[in-house]
Amino acid sequence: MSQVIVVIGAGSIGQAIARRVSAGKHVLLADLRQETADAAAKVMSDAGFAVSTTTVDVSSRESVEALVAKATSIGDVFGMIHAAGVSPSQAPPAAILHVDLYGTALLLEQFGKVIVEGGSGIVIASQSGHRLHALTAEEDKALATTPVEELMALPMLSLDKVTDSLNAYQIAKRGNSLRVKAEAVNWAKRGARVNTISPGIIMTPLANDELSGPRGEGYRRMIDLSPVGRAGTPDEVGVLGALLMGRDGAFITGSDFLMDGGVTASWFYGELAPK
Ligand SMILES: NC(=O)c1ccc[n+]([C@@H]2O[C@H](COP(=O)([O-])OP(=O)(O)OC[C@H]3O[C@@H](n4cnc5c(N)ncnc54)[C@H](O)[C@@H]3O)[C@@H](O)[C@H]2O)c1
Repeated sequence: MSQVIVVIGAGSIGQAIARRVSAGKHVLLADLRQETADAAAKVMSDAGFAVSTTTVDVSSRESVEALVAKATSIGDVFGMIHAAGVSPSQAPPAAILHVDLYGTALLLEQFGKVIVEGGSGIVIASQSGHRLHALTAEEDKALATTPVEELMALPMLSLDKVTDSLNAYQIAKRGNSLRVKAEAVNWAKRGARVNTISPGIIMTPLANDELSGPRGEGYRRMIDLSPVGRAGTPDEVGVLGALLMGRDGAFITGSDFLMDGGVTASWFYGELAPK
């Protein structure tokens, strides 16, 4: 039986991790847009990977269940790379919470039921989750453990409180790392691990939407004043993803790795600190 690596969000970051962990395995590329999955499949199959594609909407339970069924029909699910999402300039608050927060919780729940022993998962959150003010212990616990179908009804997520897309995105991404922390306990019961990567600005179509959107100037400033002084590349995220998913990461689970060129450090203690 093949070992399957499922990539949800066949964009730049998902592909970069998949290329490093999928030699000799089957890669199932799933995206909201078939053409994005097809484009990734062409690059990967030309490079010698065994691939297939499907569409998925991570904000739909029916769609995620169909994805899991497809993956298990191909083989043993050995890896889940969740790199699908919408950024603040791409969607209003309700859609961001649905796709980025609810969708991630749903994927963790569903793949946590089928991941095989020795397998692992990666969720791509964001540096934005690290800039959100501290939540209360109760709010942290609610985001980490509320049953998936009750998540969107949490009072802290009501749309009269979460009124702008950036705030929705920050909460969703903080929620991703909290959820991974809680799910690591469940995944361990199957002998599997799961971690979060919180990238800073990584040059992808999504980042380009941000750079040319209403927050573009702020983004450029963030890059210019960051300690490293440049944006990151999908391949750099791929290297960390491979470490976490591979044998060298065997002691790491339930963790969140911030890789942002130092933007968060500067936001708290340097030139990027809000005046
Ligand atoms: N690029 C950055 O600077 C950056 C920084 C921090 C976090 N991230 C996060 O990384 C992840 C990947 O983004 P990327 O930069 O590779 O962008 P990308 O645009 O290359 O990939 C995102 C993919 O998600 C897919 N998608 C959107 N909504 C979906 C849905 N409902 N169901 C299934 N697929 C859906 C899109 O079709 C797209 O292919 C996102 O979660 C994003 O928030 C990106």
